[in-house]
Amino acid sequence: MRTPAYERKSCEDESRPKCLSSFTCGLFAWPSSSAKVISASTGSNPDVFRNDPIRVNELASQNASENSVCYPPPREFQFIELKSATRNFRPDSMLGEGGFGHVFKGWVDEHGTAPAKPGTGLAVAVKILKTDAVQGHKEWLAEVEYLGELHHPNLVRLVGYCSEGENKLLAYEFMEYGSLDQHLFRKSSSLSWMIRMKIALGAAKGLAFLHGHDPPIIFRDLKTSNILLDRAYNAKLSDFGLARDGPQGDVSHVSTRIMGTYGYAAPEYVMTGHLTARSDVYGYGVVLLELLTGKRSMDRSRPSGQQNLVEWARPFLGDKKKLTSLVDTELHGCYSVRGAQKVCSLAARCLARDPRTRPPMQQVLDALVLLQSPMDMESVSSSPAPLNDVRSKAMK
Ligand SMILES: Nc1ncnc2c1ncn2[C@@H]1O[C@H](COP(=O)(O)OP(=O)(O)OP(=O)(O)O)[C@@H](O)[C@H]1O
Ligand SMILES: [Mg+2]
Repeated sequence: MRTPAYERKSCEDESRPKCLSSFTCGLFAWPSSSAKVISASTGSNPDVFRNDPIRVNELASQNASENSVCYPPPREFQFIELKSATRNFRPDSMLGEGGFGHVFKGWVDEHGTAPAKPGTGLAVAVKILKTDAVQGHKEWLAEVEYLGELHHPNLVRLVGYCSEGENKLLAYEFMEYGSLDQHLFRKSSSLSWMIRMKIALGAAKGLAFLHGHDPPIIFRDLKTSNILLDRAYNAKLSDFGLARDGPQGDVSHVSTRIMGTYGYAAPEYVMTGHLTARSDVYGYGVVLLELLTGKRSMDRSRPSGQQNLVEWARPFLGDKKKLTSLVDTELHGCYSVRGAQKVCSLAARCLARDPRTRPPMQQVLDALVLLQSPMDMESVSSSPAPLNDVRSKAMK
């Protein structure tokens, strides 16, 4: 399945994200010219378990460790090693493609940089920067600097990197179930309500961790394709190419060139370029809405007035009677009405037009933790979502 193209706003030169620590990686000159990034994703579609209570119970006990994790420093790979690890970037090992470049599955030595036989050692996802993507050089560097330093169960692990002339590559831990968009927007196989809430919780933990960092880190590119899933549906944030240090002390925002993805970027950020942690909270609200509705944040194939999910959904969010118009019909009514109502009101708060009234990520996380309670999880919906709901179908 091919997901629609994601478009980014202008990606002109922007001041370099501040380095987090003394971590360095033998780097290169900072580029200055501009580039527009337009990306499209392809990818495999692993099977998912739909509304399966046994599987779901099993998954509930497999939450990612709450404790912080500590990985060894990223390895410095040679190009030839990653080339061989992916069997010469074989087309059938391609996992997807984004604005940065192609992503391939490969295997490397458990602890070193040598390539390993397929199915042995450590599975990795190798991302190769498109040589013509000037903006990509900056994103590559930000990725290495941030992910080289930040370790958390809900952030993808950077296993290593390669910088040989124009060849810039990144090797991440391989995430068995790929990205959230590959599951959520499939027609025939949807994620159960419980799994959706588990994913929402994982993403909230990752984002709250970033915002709680000193200095706070703004992720800036939260979207379903950047939420990766392991076999137990633990969510991990990936793609730190646009991340940057947030404002500190009395400073209210940082000024940046506008970058990100249409449909997820906060309106005040798009208008002014003023970036705060609350811009990420808006993006999180969009993801929450996508989890609730099963609809993409932006879909130009939908009728006009319905293309932007937030604008379409906003009037329904505060109206309990309209819940069935919002909830994904692929759930076939198997969701907690109480839980879904709470998700609606949380999404509405995250999507507030005035960023000052959006909750901080820690509050969002607290709400998500409460949403995991059995009371908010059980599928007590007595009236299944109408399958012939014209509006729901039009938006799918
Ligand atoms: N660590 C990983 N493990 C498994 N699959 C991955 C991993 N990283 C990326 N992928 C796959 O590769 C696809 C492309 O990822 P990539 O981050 O390059 O682009 P994107 O997020 O879809 O788009 P954009 O470039 O606009 O952010 C993802 O959708 C996912 O399916
Ligand atoms: Mg991505």
